[in-house]
Amino acid sequence: MSQHTAPPQKVNLGPGFWPVAIGLSIFNIIGTYFIVTWDVNGFLPEAATPAGDIDFLFKFMAVFGSAIFVYVTGFIVFFAIAWRRRPSDAPDAIGIQVHDSPKLEFWWTAIPAVLVVILAFFSVRIWANLQQTAGDVLTMESIGHQFKYEFRYPTLKQSVYDDMHLPVDTPITLHVTSADVIHSFWVPEIRLKYDMVPGLVQTMRFTPKKTGAYRIICTEFCGTSHGNMLAALHIDTPAQFQQWLAKQAKTQTQGSGPVALAGGNAASGQQLFGQKCASCHNANGGFDAKIVGPGLGKLANDAAHPQLVTGEKPDADGISHILIKGYQGPDMSQGKSGAALGVMPNRQANALSNGDIANLTAYLLSLSQKKS
Ligand code: CUA
Repeated sequence: MSQHTAPPQKVNLGPGFWPVAIGLSIFNIIGTYFIVTWDVNGFLPEAATPAGDIDFLFKFMAVFGSAIFVYVTGFIVFFAIAWRRRPSDAPDAIGIQVHDSPKLEFWWTAIPAVLVVILAFFSVRIWANLQQTAGDVLTMESIGHQFKYEFRYPTLKQSVYDDMHLPVDTPITLHVTSADVIHSFWVPEIRLKYDMVPGLVQTMRFTPKKTGAYRIICTEFCGTSHGNMLAALHIDTPAQFQQWLAKQAKTQTQGSGPVALAGGNAASGQQLFGQKCASCHNANGGFDAKIVGPGLGKLANDAAHPQLVTGEKPDADGISHILIKGYQGPDMSQGKSGAALGVMPNRQANALSNGDIANLTAYLLSLSQKKS
């Protein structure tokens, strides 16, 4: 333990030490009162369990963290003023050297150790509840894409994008992963945040408790449109949820079948382009006028790029095929050369109906005609 040779001396703590200590204590008590009584739920709704447990952890840490902050910074400021160098001091004067206080050292080790053990106890209990599979009712998946969320429901043949619906009071098991780069799945109102990592499936469990619409936010920088990677979580009543599921199942079957390209309307396509395509594609300028993907202003008559990136002819069929299937850039791991052209979501991800595809194709072809 300590190896002090001199007997402990009575240390002068400085003028006004005890009044300052009492003042800091009063300040700390007031702070603690506000932390404990603060209505987190009013600030950010607890829309699902375990949000309440996690808020408790947050308050527990905030109470002790703020006490440490108040006393440590308070006494640093106090001692800096009380023991400042005075004009009368010699130029090489040093302060009083204080060491070896076994009693203090014991308590400042023991108290934080006990607090950390209590914190670990509460944290492990919440973590164990999150692993609890007994109550699983709805098990589904979410996959992160640049820059969209895909949701897979067990009863739907096709994925749903952008809007996630969940029934209230139903235990949810959600497996999250990614198709390209690292994204994350964060719903502030649930207080859970999981990274979506390619090749890794992570499982989150929660039970929606409050109906309403909440945000799903990507918190990993995943590319140029990371800031736009948002989705909505709708917590519905069970009846509303069933209604929504039934509607999805119906529209999904209507979305298939051949696309009648001849009926495309360029003006409608232009409007749609602004909503769905303009954040990645430039409608003015040729291939090299890139935003995320290539510029599309000279799609059908660009001498430097006589073919589409898929190798197809730049006609209505070729263009519509990309809109339907999306596009995956060259796979470097397969030894293919060429610049990576990124990834374009398919029609499901862009929620494009047959009519939308015909309109967009007509619009994209009209761009080239104007400039020829
Ligand atoms: Cu996905 Cu940021």
